Amino acid sequence: HRATVPAIAAHVDAAAARFAWRPDTPIDAVPELSASVDWLGGGGQGTGQGIRLTLDDALGAAAARAGRVGDEAFRVTVSADGVEIRGASPLGVFRGATVLRQLRDPDAPAQAEVLLPAGVWEGAPAYGWRGVMLDVARHFRPVDDVRRLIDLLALHHLNILQLHLTDDQGWRFEVPGYPRLTEVSARREATQRGHGPEATVEPGVHEGFYTTDELRDLVRYAAERGVTLVPEVELPGHIQAALAAYPELGNTDVGVPASGPWERFGVNARTLAPTEASLAFGRAAIDALCDVFDAEWIGIGGDEVPVTEWAQSEAAAERMRALGLATPHDVQPWFTAHFVAHVRARGRTALAWDEVLEGEVPEGVRILAWRGPVAMREALSRGIPVVACPDLEVYLDYPQSESPEEPIRVGPPLPLARAYSLRIEDRAVGGQANVWSEHLPSRDRVDFAMFPRLAAIAERLWEGGEPRPFADFMRRLPTHLRRLAAAGVRYRPLDGPSPDQRRPGVPGKPLTVEAREAIVAGLVERLLDGSAARARAARK
Ligand code: ACM
Repeated sequence: HRATVPAIAAHVDAAAARFAWRPDTPIDAVPELSASVDWLGGGGQGTGQGIRLTLDDALGAAAARAGRVGDEAFRVTVSADGVEIRGASPLGVFRGATVLRQLRDPDAPAQAEVLLPAGVWEGAPAYGWRGVMLDVARHFRPVDDVRRLIDLLALHHLNILQLHLTDDQGWRFEVPGYPRLTEVSARREATQRGHGPEATVEPGVHEGFYTTDELRDLVRYAAERGVTLVPEVELPGHIQAALAAYPELGNTDVGVPASGPWERFGVNARTLAPTEASLAFGRAAIDALCDVFDAEWIGIGGDEVPVTEWAQSEAAAERMRALGLATPHDVQPWFTAHFVAHVRARGRTALAWDEVLEGEVPEGVRILAWRGPVAMREALSRGIPVVACPDLEVYLDYPQSESPEEPIRVGPPLPLARAYSLRIEDRAVGGQANVWSEHLPSRDRVDFAMFPRLAAIAERLWEGGEPRPFADFMRRLPTHLRRLAAAGVRYRPLDGPSPDQRRPGVPGKPLTVEAREAIVAGLVERLLDGSAARARAARK
């Protein structure tokens, strides 16, 4: 049961005497390492052999020379005489503590004495950004579920949790001066059931938002587990929930005002109007996030923003003339420049989906490249830091097999082996899995979508380079599934969904991988056109 996931290089001495870890085993550490002490259960008052946690700069320097993230380097040494966890920083010690936890028998109760094999485990990650995006806008997850998810991320050495806090279907945080965002935008009366032409809309209240105090607590909780919470507000599209509360921020001379957050799923035509009021609204939302979250990055959205309304609105046309914007396609870059500048003024870096590459990208942006390798290459060629989240490998809302037993299949099959094939450009800052929650209305459904695929992705993000043989991962996985089961995770069994995990009769919209690739090729056409135009301009 000692197989680690992510795989950690180990030299196990099977012949040597083992270490007995008991609830009263003392843990010796300086106060700076208290998070790791807590992660190991706090330690006890026993007088026997103990666990010692130590900071060691040299480990970090050696890892950095090898092209790894030095800060998180660690070495765990186990012998009958004691355990030593050395880390290049408190984070490195924490990663080592996580490995030590994985050396326990997954089924052993917390109060049991366990025997750990003697040996050395050591490593450092390939990438500094090893993340997950959770969509809490389509379906809200209560604070306790987010805490539990942070624990699960930490168990996999993942270090970023991006919270997708707003979308057409719901707004999930407080913004001073805009009280209706939590009174009106956080609640919808009905929700789409299923996907595709046969989907229906079913009545039923879905609501929820995080108070500022709850978010502050989550930030602290995550930090103690080596996870950075990265907030995201969607601007200037995916905005219907906000427009339901503040219709004056929309393009009021076209379409009908939203009567509430959207009850359907898909790409919504509604956008912010290109006005000073919209800019002030976006700044207020960004300020609220900066006041609560301490992450270097603040998400400003930017994906799937249709120009439909800007192309139809007389008021927008007038404003575009005043601003010197030639076409409706110049409106989103105008918003982006403004919001990026505001995030920078707050001392942070804006995080945006790769659609913003269709315009000029100002200094101070990190890109989430979701539309295949094209977006990744474009960001790299322009020297913009980029996080890989290619949908075919990391969109965990996609079905896990081609079987009709998979619940509400939307998109192409993304089996475990495909997740494990994730190959990230060495020059990327890292990668993340994206968990869109249109069809994940409960904690169990989120568990099902995430695991075990997230374990595969976590290993790829930790190791970097080319994937090791999938069979190697599969050999270690049964042990890891026992860890997940012990943590109460309702993962998808390897042989298919259990009966209660299926959704018979609820329509989906499955695609082949080829069909999805063709769709993405269409989506990135503007990006490629812009890229070619820039290259021509550079040659002149
Ligand atoms: C996205 O999947 N719309 C970023």
